[in-house]
Amino acid sequence: MSHVKFHLGYFTKFGATSWPGDGKEFGSNWIDGSYHKELAQILEAAKFDFILFEDTLIVGDRYGGSMELDLKNATLSPKLDPIPLLPVMAQGTSHIGLIATASTTFYPPYLLARLLSTVDSLTGGRAGWNMVTSSEKNAALNFGIDKLLPSNVRYDIADEYVDLAKQLWNSWEDGALVADPESGVYVDHTKVHTINFEGEHFRSRGPLNTVRSPQGHPVLCQAGASERGRQFSSRNAEVVLGMMTGGVAGMKAYRDDIRRRAERQGRNPDDIKVVFLTPVNIIPEGKEQPEMSEAEKQAAFEHNIVMASSSLDVDFSQYDLDSPVPQDIVAGGHTSALDHMKKAGREEGKSLRDLFSSGKGGNKARFSGTAEQVASQLIEVMDEVGGDGFLIEGSGYNRQLPDLVNGLIPALQKAGAVRTEYTGTTLREVLREF
Ligand SMILES: Cc1cc2nc3c(=O)[nH]c(=O)nc-3n(C[C@H](O)[C@H](O)[C@H](O)COP(=O)(O)O)c2cc1C
Repeated sequence: MSHVKFHLGYFTKFGATSWPGDGKEFGSNWIDGSYHKELAQILEAAKFDFILFEDTLIVGDRYGGSMELDLKNATLSPKLDPIPLLPVMAQGTSHIGLIATASTTFYPPYLLARLLSTVDSLTGGRAGWNMVTSSEKNAALNFGIDKLLPSNVRYDIADEYVDLAKQLWNSWEDGALVADPESGVYVDHTKVHTINFEGEHFRSRGPLNTVRSPQGHPVLCQAGASERGRQFSSRNAEVVLGMMTGGVAGMKAYRDDIRRRAERQGRNPDDIKVVFLTPVNIIPEGKEQPEMSEAEKQAAFEHNIVMASSSLDVDFSQYDLDSPVPQDIVAGGHTSALDHMKKAGREEGKSLRDLFSSGKGGNKARFSGTAEQVASQLIEVMDEVGGDGFLIEGSGYNRQLPDLVNGLIPALQKAGAVRTEYTGTTLREVLREF
């Protein structure tokens, strides 16, 4: 049987991905970029389409009003800005795409358009931008903003932001840089244009004072889940990050919805790749899933509750952690994730501690087993969903990597489900190969 051929991304952070560890293992040296440079080489050898870096602009202290658990476990911080990392990773690789997250709420558009154009040039056309509007109130406070605008308004502003950034990126035509010693012209000024952008939220004269980058602009990427978020991603994004909520049916419905919305907005849905975030749990042949120790469960709990307190904007320390999930929790942030948690409390009697104690390494992953078994599971789901790929969650523990690149990827390649080589060079070309 022939399968849907699908794309693979790797989701991680520019932070301490090997903690807790003994400090000597691969990944302990992240601050100078050397770990991520090597990671990019390893993932390129396995023919991943891209690496994607998350980002937020806070030290997490939503849980109990304390930074302790975030900093103790290196959950949200410390981290470095992912954007300068992309050119570092580009050195020593030649094809893998490099995507960084940056917020439309906090970056001035001219600066970000110039920065991302620069990074696209420095990476030889392999850069991408994960567009987020940011949901943490404490991030706003770092910029002297007392309160974030409602999510829908942030997306309205982000739509205009993208329009402006695109005009800036297009303010230099192809071929403007002539560098012709005969005529003595470096740049043909007739191919560089002011834009005089006048929007509701932004004004910008333009042009950019940099050259057009290899891709024209970075590949645009986004994860809209809400109605408004989906409208934004289907209008603007080339890579859409989906969640696996609702199982295979939910994934298929999500992808179909994004494609339908894109078509209604005059886009070719095939120009959009929907990739679904998932952990994978590979158990080497003949080995058993090791039981998590109490200490590991506690570390996972602390990590997960810090993440959720921040992204949902809930101080979970105010609620009973050990009885079924309280139904009166109110979220400032994403409510759909909270609805799922409440449902697990109502229907299965799960407590917050139960929900937050599963492993970072994906012990409860839907895709679990030997490399061959996980490969078959991924293929089966993708065949049903119809495309376009998975965004593999870097587990935080780099012990996952050898099983991933030496076990799972070859098994997927053998089945003809993923690429065995790159034929394109830029990230956009790589994504559009199939
Ligand atoms: C795979 C994935 C990665 C994300 N990365 C980030 C990130 O790095 N920073 C951030 O502020 N939000 C991030 N988000 C949140 C999204 O930008 C978005 O707010 C979320 O998916 C909810 O969608 P909504 O805004 O339509 O409610 C991510 C979401 C997903 C699914």
